[in-house]
Amino acid sequence: MGIKLIFSAILVYVTLFLLAKAEPVEDKRALLDFIGNIYHSRSLNWDERTSACHNWTGVTCNHDNSRVIAVRLPAIGFKGRIPTNTLSRLSALQILSLRSNALSGPFPPDLLRLGNLMSLYLQFNNFQGPLPSDFSVWENLSVLNLSNNSFNGSIPSSISNLTHLIALDLANNSLSGDVPDFNIPSLQLLDLSNNNLTGSVPQSLHRFPSSSFSGNNISVQNSFSPVPPSSATPKKHSSKFSRSAILGIVIGSSVLAFVLIALLLVVTNRKKKNDDKSTTLTTQKKEKSTKKMVSENLDTNGRITFFEGCNLVFDLEDLLRASAEVLGKGTFGTTYKAALEDATTVAVKRLREVIVGRKEFEQQMEVVGSIRHENVAPLRAYYYSKDEKLMVYDYYNQGSVSALIHAKRGDNRIPLDWETRLRIAIGAAKGIARIHSQNGGKLVHGNIKASNIFLNSQHHGCISDLGLATLMSPIAPPVMRTTGYRAPEVTDTRKSSQPSDVYSFGVVLLELLTGKSPVHTSGGEEVIHLVRWVHSVVREEWTGEVFDVELLRYPNIEEEMVAMLQIGMSCVARMPDQRPKIGEVVKMMEEIRSVNIGNTPGTRSPGSTPTLTPHGGEIGSSSVVN
Ligand SMILES: *[C@@H]1O[C@H](CO)[C@@H](O)[C@H](O)[C@H]1NC(C)=O
Ligand SMILES: *[C@@H]1O[C@H](CO)[C@@H](O)[C@H](O)[C@H]1NC(C)=O
Ligand SMILES: *[C@@H]1O[C@H](CO)[C@@H](O)[C@H](O)[C@H]1NC(C)=O
Ligand SMILES: *[C@@H]1O[C@H](CO)[C@@H](O)[C@H](O)[C@H]1NC(C)=O
Ligand SMILES: *[C@@H]1O[C@H](CO)[C@@H](O)[C@H](O)[C@H]1NC(C)=O
Ligand SMILES: *[C@@H]1O[C@H](CO)[C@@H](O)[C@H](O)[C@H]1NC(C)=O
Ligand SMILES: *[C@@H]1O[C@H](CO)[C@@H](O)[C@H](O)[C@H]1NC(C)=O
Ligand SMILES: *[C@@H]1O[C@H](CO)[C@@H](O)[C@H](O)[C@H]1NC(C)=O
Ligand SMILES: *[C@@H]1O[C@H](CO)[C@@H](O)[C@H](O)[C@H]1NC(C)=O
Repeated sequence: MGIKLIFSAILVYVTLFLLAKAEPVEDKRALLDFIGNIYHSRSLNWDERTSACHNWTGVTCNHDNSRVIAVRLPAIGFKGRIPTNTLSRLSALQILSLRSNALSGPFPPDLLRLGNLMSLYLQFNNFQGPLPSDFSVWENLSVLNLSNNSFNGSIPSSISNLTHLIALDLANNSLSGDVPDFNIPSLQLLDLSNNNLTGSVPQSLHRFPSSSFSGNNISVQNSFSPVPPSSATPKKHSSKFSRSAILGIVIGSSVLAFVLIALLLVVTNRKKKNDDKSTTLTTQKKEKSTKKMVSENLDTNGRITFFEGCNLVFDLEDLLRASAEVLGKGTFGTTYKAALEDATTVAVKRLREVIVGRKEFEQQMEVVGSIRHENVAPLRAYYYSKDEKLMVYDYYNQGSVSALIHAKRGDNRIPLDWETRLRIAIGAAKGIARIHSQNGGKLVHGNIKASNIFLNSQHHGCISDLGLATLMSPIAPPVMRTTGYRAPEVTDTRKSSQPSDVYSFGVVLLELLTGKSPVHTSGGEEVIHLVRWVHSVVREEWTGEVFDVELLRYPNIEEEMVAMLQIGMSCVARMPDQRPKIGEVVKMMEEIRSVNIGNTPGTRSPGSTPTLTPHGGEIGSSSVVN
């Protein structure tokens, strides 16, 4: 009877297991045992009921989800020892990253059971004691980073058993004794700096630069042969994404955060050859990265603050080195696209000219970061140090509304249809309304423009980059692209108000309707402000000519467009007190849509519709666009 019961229980279990998606059950158990037995200050979404392969932060499985092959948990706030017999059960593990935590105790001997390990990142922890004496099980290890711990004792000669090693970083420990003569031809990156090593550089390591050994008592006289042994010639870094290139970026920049940035910018620059605007920044940063600046600018107070519900794992280094490309240079800083270790992508904004102190900055970040609304881009994390202020947002792969409206017309362009424009406008207005309700109804966005609006997963407008104006040094008026959105009463960016936000939103609305930039030139050099242009066109009763030619091919939308135009124009009223509140704007826009749902446009009596006098040429040309 008992046996039968157990048997059917197993049967049920197996069936359930088979019904569920394939799961590495044992590995999952091992991970739960690990996380259940170690202190961590950030919570992880490792729920027993969800799929470890699909839903768990920092966990990567192999192609058929039968094994866990990578665990990346940097900066989770782990404290104490790695519980024994937990991670070591992940026998298929190839990548383990526990860097930037506060793990302590001796080198976890358990990890030596992970024979498939290819990369081990334990840097920036508090491990102490000797290194393992026998490395021979890690025959496939290619990256070993143990830097910035408190390992002591000597470097074991068995390290030469790591015949596939490409990068070895033991910097910033308390290792002593001589450097063993480990001849590993594959080794390309070596950092033994800032230890207590003695003796001289062995023959096989002469090919590495003296910086690999600095901060020790190692004699370096006549140790650097000009020509590296042929077997050790470093591989050409051909592809940006090849492992050696990535390692090159990582290790070549092991000294300083801003060296990392410089490299990152160099890479970015190289990639975006024609984006010469960022060159100046690169040069500045390069100049900074001299030896002397190291100690002066080193900032140990910096930390990343994560907001509730952020399932991303990264630390500062990720942000700075992640293969990044410039997404845009904005009013308050440059935004980069950063691909993290675990293949997620975030947008990282580097603020320039923050003029407030840490406390004020953090308070504002808390205000901004606590907003959770489908039409407000969530701030995931921020970083503050003396030299760097970073904000981490979700990455929106469709780009900004500005890009969507103004992307090169013709050819392959898919025109932004009216439905999408409506959803952008209503979404953004709702987002602004949410922002204006924050902080006792006093929060101001301060920088509303089409390039700060994105499409959320429902393709509604979603507003980003809020609440920065008061933190930054004021931006003087002649900044062309921004002035187009700036309300006339705003003389410096710090004086933004909710009515000036409404004005800026009005400009975005006009931009969506006209397809024209807020400040543009027409033919000659004459600068045209969108608001003035719309006024003049409407005054002359050329209302039809106001609208984007791309919109004229959609039937039966004139009424809605005209109604939107009226809302847009009320938002850009000259006097702040004549502008509607954003809540009213939302209501008006929703009325436009409910009219449409209850009553098909075109079926209304002609008298109630504002007159349109489209110019023939415009409509004719609409058929030319695709
Ligand atoms: C788990 O991941 C799958 C696929 O990525 C997703 O569809 C699902 O919503 C996620 N479930 C939870 C509870 O997060
Ligand atoms: C090392 O990698 C090779 C090829 O990927 C594999 O066949 C071998 O089993 C690995 N060695 C260990 C100890 O896992
Ligand atoms: C090394 O890491 C610890 C945290 O584990 C940190 O307190 C310390 O500042 C780091 N040292 C350097 C030189 O960055
Ligand atoms: C290493 O450090 C530990 C304490 O952290 C100490 O007991 C031990 O003697 C040290 N070993 C060496 C070789 O310095
Ligand atoms: C590992 O290295 C030690 C010291 O260099 C050597 O004596 C030993 O034979 C090596 N073991 C293997 C398996 O290569
Ligand atoms: C470095 O080594 C010397 C002598 O070997 C010792 O006196 C000193 O305490 C060591 N320093 C550190 C930081 O381990
Ligand atoms: C450096 O090493 C030499 C011998 O190799 C020794 O005479 C000297 O005292 C050491 N210096 C320090 C600061 O430990
Ligand atoms: C090791 O980690 C440090 C600090 O995180 C980093 O600066 C260095 O580039 C890394 N080295 C390797 C070989 O990845
Ligand atoms: C070692 O510490 C120094 C400062 O103490 C720091 O600048 C450097 O980045 C650290 N190197 C690594 C590889 O952690």
